[in-house]
Amino acid sequence: MARAKRKTQYVCQECGADYPKWAGRCAACGTWNSLVEVHIAPRQTASSGLQQPASEPVALAHVTTDTGARRPIHLSEFDRVLGGGILPGAVMLLGGEPGIGKSTLLLQVAHRYAEMYGPVLYVSGEESPAQVRLRAERLKALSERIFIAGETDVSHVLHQIERIGPQLVIVDSIQTMASADIDGLPGSLTQVREAAAVFQRVAKEKGIPMFLVGHVTKQGGLAGPKVLEHIVDVVLQFDGERYTQHRLLRTVKNRFGATSELGLFEMTEAGLLPIADPSGALLAERPVGSPGSVVVSSQEGSRALLVEIQALVGPAPFGGTPRRQVSGVDYSRTSIVLAVLERRNGLELHTHDVYLNVAGGMRLEEPAADLGIAVAIASALRGRPVDPETVIFGEIGLAGEVRAVSYAEARALEAVRLGFRRCLLPAGNARGLKVPERLQLVPVTTVAEALAAAMSA
Ligand code: TYD
Ligand code: MG
Repeated sequence: MARAKRKTQYVCQECGADYPKWAGRCAACGTWNSLVEVHIAPRQTASSGLQQPASEPVALAHVTTDTGARRPIHLSEFDRVLGGGILPGAVMLLGGEPGIGKSTLLLQVAHRYAEMYGPVLYVSGEESPAQVRLRAERLKALSERIFIAGETDVSHVLHQIERIGPQLVIVDSIQTMASADIDGLPGSLTQVREAAAVFQRVAKEKGIPMFLVGHVTKQGGLAGPKVLEHIVDVVLQFDGERYTQHRLLRTVKNRFGATSELGLFEMTEAGLLPIADPSGALLAERPVGSPGSVVVSSQEGSRALLVEIQALVGPAPFGGTPRRQVSGVDYSRTSIVLAVLERRNGLELHTHDVYLNVAGGMRLEEPAADLGIAVAIASALRGRPVDPETVIFGEIGLAGEVRAVSYAEARALEAVRLGFRRCLLPAGNARGLKVPERLQLVPVTTVAEALAAAMSA
């Protein structure tokens, strides 16, 4: 049998699309001059005709599910983000900026997992085994059952998996992995993609869960490979403000559970500790009684969190375009809120700069934050503080109406738990809502009503 020819492909370095022929522009993402020639070694396949399938089809009703098999590691905020624990066979990508704490988190995970479920293989392509040991000592995460390998070659890692028979594999980082069968430097899109695909296959064959660490670029995307997100089962994003101690772990994708789940940690001398009372921590530095500061109740995955929105509004330079700078809230939703405040409520915002920020590095993407944003901007513009005992939530429509949102009860109960006394909420949510009496419900149907109620107290 003649040896199969090496296959030539052209791969877009931006989006990972591949083509049999070169082209000046990627048809998938529209980038110019991004196609790079790569050679892919032939897979070992039969030369002709029908092949024996690797598996037989099974009646859907007879397929076994292993949802009961989640393995919690009892690091509460971490388990929460994974929907209860680590699922055997799942490949999980952990993305985050350099220095945010990815290696720290995964070493803690390795330690707990090893003690509970068996050997862990920690593949470190970035730091030497000695460096990892020093960190493990500091974290009190030394274990006889963690095996460290300073490897960057994918096939060597596969051998070690055979030798050790780990119950969990951690690859730190996927960008350091390379395969001799493939052209391209470590970290190049083709290498990273191929390495991830190999790990995905091995994880599924052997039922071993795997974490892949991925560095993110300045734009916030996982370095180069958006494609990685398609290959893996779970994508976790780890971030926070670099100079504060808070770290946020969120699910961006989860084939086996809910996305938008959020876990909060604090970076300490002893590593990452779950934050026991996230709402309390997020409100800890709130400037009570300051104009522009508003507390909203936000649903993050399966729980409600209280978060502070801050607005700063000042006159724009005469004749210039007013600035709109937002961080932590959705820009297009904010534009709608600004338009409604201007057109329906007569606020002179076109002559003012508006800055919005969400405290603690949180991101509020749901429309339920609209009303809080509106009140924060109006409060800042008028220089009148909002009653510090009030929590706000509700979606705003283009006519200036306040619309009902989901999870109203959970949002209100979180306000009760933190000792708030008033809750401004959509009238559509207030009917029949059961909350303890010490929380006064203030139903509103329009933005105008909400502004009056928020700043009257
Ligand atoms: P690291 O896990 O190396 O980040 P990444 O893998 O995402 O690049 O963590 C880097 C930072 O964390 C480093 O600046 C030191 C700090 N750190 C602590 O504050 N406490 C600790 O216990 C450890 C291990 C690290
Ligand atoms: Mg690291």
